[in-house]
Amino acid sequence: MKSSKPQLQVLFSRAQIAERVAALGAAISRDFAGQHVVLIGVLKGAAIFMSDLARALTIDASFDFVGAASYGKGSKSSGEVQLTKDLDRSVSGENVILVEDILDTGFTLSFLRRMVLLHEPKTLRVAALLDKPSRRIEPFTADYLGFTIEDRFVVGYGLDHNERYRNLPDICIIDPMPE
Ligand code: IMP
Ligand code: MG
Repeated sequence: MKSSKPQLQVLFSRAQIAERVAALGAAISRDFAGQHVVLIGVLKGAAIFMSDLARALTIDASFDFVGAASYGKGSKSSGEVQLTKDLDRSVSGENVILVEDILDTGFTLSFLRRMVLLHEPKTLRVAALLDKPSRRIEPFTADYLGFTIEDRFVVGYGLDHNERYRNLPDICIIDPMPE
């Protein structure tokens, strides 16, 4: 059977995203007033969120990135997470904020939090743009959260489907899921 062309439906517009990201930046700046933070972005999905979040901070920040791959079929993630890119330098004694696009099963962020904690940072917080709590397998709560969503597959603003759609300025529901 021939599948129909995927349609994109805006879930959060660029204006709604900008408002939430500004609020998260203000909250982080308040919580770490007068201090330095290290933002650790999870490649590649968090790249756009982190760029905007960083510019919403009024405090001093440096950047690092990590890569993680979770194995499973298609859009299904499994409990097995591998580090595909490590930190460039240790975050020992730093105020660390892990920045991720979406919190789904919880496997990726749980794994990355354990990895970062091995460096013994001064503090560790997690900022996630989106959260799908109904999909959670490993319990995990973000400290700074953009939006809670239902169990729908979303793309745009960094999020992909098979590496496409990351550059869409809005967060969109993709339906039906492309092959
Ligand atoms: P977790 O380990 O299941 O929490 O996986 C989180 C990762 O799954 C995210 O970093 C995304 O790469 C991917 N992911 C989960 N849901 C979506 C979605 O709706 N759109 C795009 N990627 C998603
Ligand atoms: Mg990702």
